[in-house]
Parts: sequence; C-alpha cells; structure tokens
Amino acid sequence: MAFLKTGITRALRSRVPTQNPLVRAEIQRGITATAKTANWTSTTSPTPQSSTPVSFPLSATSTNPFTTLHNDITHSLTTTPSPHLPTLHSLLRAYSSDPTHWSKYAHANPQKQYTRNLVCAVPGLFNLLLLVWTPGRASPIHDHASAHCLMKILQGSIRERRFATPAHPGTSGPLVETSNLKFGRDKVTYMADSLGLHEIKNESEVEYAVSLHLYTPPNAAVRGVRLFDGVSGEARHVMQGEYDSVRGVVPPPSRG
Ligand SMILES: [Fe+2]
Repeated sequence: MAFLKTGITRALRSRVPTQNPLVRAEIQRGITATAKTANWTSTTSPTPQSSTPVSFPLSATSTNPFTTLHNDITHSLTTTPSPHLPTLHSLLRAYSSDPTHWSKYAHANPQKQYTRNLVCAVPGLFNLLLLVWTPGRASPIHDHASAHCLMKILQGSIRERRFATPAHPGTSGPLVETSNLKFGRDKVTYMADSLGLHEIKNESEVEYAVSLHLYTPPNAAVRGVRLFDGVSGEARHVMQGEYDSVRGVVPPPSRG
C-alpha cells in the first residue's frame, strides 16, 4: 500500500523539464488544438500548484500501452456504425494500468472533488476522460445524458452507488439505492441512463484514485447532465465546466 501511495504521489506531482523542443511543441499543439472545442468557463477555482502541467518525452509515446488503448478505442468508434460495446469493454479490460503510462493526464486538485482531464475525443462520437479523485470526496448523483459510459479504474478504488431514476424528480422523496459496489484497479464497469443514476466516491482518506471514462456519444459535454439530491430527489440541469487539462496540458487561466 505504501508503494502505491508513493507511486501515485510521484506520478501526480512529478515534473519533467520541457527544454526539449519536441516536447514544447507537443504541449503547444495540445493547447491550440483543443481550445476551439473545450467548454471553457471562468467559474472554477484557481489552479493550484498540484495541477501544473506534466509532460513526458515523445519517444515514449509510440510504445505506451495507454496510447495504444486510446488509439484502439478511437479506431473502434470510428469504424463501426454504432458503438460496439463488447469490443470497447474488451479493450479496456485488456489494458493493465501503470501510472507511468498515463500520469501526464493525471492533474490532481485537492480543492475539487475530482478533476476532469481530456485524453482524446472525436466530436460527435466520443470523449475519453481521465478523472483524478481527491481522497474522501464524491461526485454528485448524476445521469449520463443518454450516452454510454464505460469506466476503468486506473489507481486506487472507487465506490459506486446506483439509484433508480425518479419518474418525477422531487415528488417521490429520497432516491432509492439499487446497488452499492466497490471497484479496484483494472476493473471495468458500464453505466447508462437505462440503469439509473449513480454517485462515485473515493473512500480512501489518503490516496488519490484515478479512473478512465469513455463517453459515447459525448452528449454531456454538449448539453450537460442532471444532478440529483439524494434526500429530496430533486433534479437540476448543469453544464459541465472546463477541463482541468487537455491532452496532458493545463489550460491558461481564464480571463474575466
Ligand atoms: Fe457517471
């Protein structure tokens, strides 16, 4: 356990010098390529030191199994007329998580419940996000905007509580819990509106948890999601905020 904690801390906080012009170019390319499509807002907390960009030499990219994974996901989703869930599930399950593969995407922010880091996306088809969960923190109870969501645990463990979706939110009392499961590293799970609502929590008090989320189509990024109050059952619609990083790069502070 101590090794895992040390490993993730190193992965989340390590700094790699960017004197290498190829690395600098890759960072710049990431910013300019995504600033056009990201839903930037000015409502998030200032980026703390722990969210400083982390980059790795390009030479490691071509053989990085995590890169192979998102390339394979992209290939599957761009060559089938609709998402082939067994293939996507199999790809995620076959990948064996190692922080050295994905740490450039893992930007922690202890001021938030979790951070949302864009790994890759094809507009209209999917987005792939790496979420870093602050110790002891949870997501709101939410729906999935009529999209498929596949989640793989990359580090630590995650508690998922599922709830029945109320037919008329706010009129029938507390949400009804339908399952309560804990998933450890490399486990893959599937969620969609047809299965209800869920809440995700990192129960560890000391260790960040990291999970990979594939959303197809990327509806939530376009039209937002509904958040639910577990006690009253009430729902409210919210748009998602800006990504905490895009392809491994933390965006510059918002203006205004
Ligand atoms: Fe979710």
